[in-house]
Amino acid sequence: MLNIAVLVSGGGTNLQALIDAGERGELQNGRICCVISGNPQAYALERAKRHGIKTAVVARKSFASSKEFDLALLKELESCKADLIILAGFMSILGGELISKYENKIINVHPSLIPAFCGRGFYGLKVHQAVLDYGAKVTGATVHFVNSIPDGGAIILQKAVAVESGDTPETLQKRVMEQAEWQLLPKAVSLFCQGRLKIEGREVYLK
Ligand code: GAR
Repeated sequence: MLNIAVLVSGGGTNLQALIDAGERGELQNGRICCVISGNPQAYALERAKRHGIKTAVVARKSFASSKEFDLALLKELESCKADLIILAGFMSILGGELISKYENKIINVHPSLIPAFCGRGFYGLKVHQAVLDYGAKVTGATVHFVNSIPDGGAIILQKAVAVESGDTPETLQKRVMEQAEWQLLPKAVSLFCQGRLKIEGREVYLK
């Protein structure tokens, strides 16, 4: 059974999707061992507590350098013996050392079809605002491995979602979450935990 650490910063609806999938027995060979929040006020912490999951807060602004922040994260990850790290709306950038220590063991969910509307500065509602400003007719979500390039790692799963006329960033975010993120993330986690993801360069194959 693999230990999954989920890193969050906000509402935690993707965390909830993982918790629900776990309770339905759909995270084959995986269990959430801890939830680490970058924000002490994150509602995601309440969701974890309600389901009896261990929580910790590691906020970037409490540390003088990104190296110290990474060390604190590492300590929490090691204390829950994490085999897999999920970034579920985690809004801080991880340092290179942590990323290489957990190479191909960190998965992120991003609310657009990468390589569109991604990278530094594209997070949360800003992504959906950018999609609407551009006039795109289709957006979606991407679940990918994390490397040192923001939103640049190998893609595991993607799903397209229609942009509708009259959409606001909030209505578009809700549709992308409901139709894509909450389905793709538990699916990718389950595939990883069953050892069914094979990475070759930028390609991820399903075994
Ligand atoms: C989600 O839409 C997630 O894809 C996005 O933040 C939201 C978090 O919502 N992540 C990013 O933008 C990372 N680049 P949640 O806290 O309800 O899961």
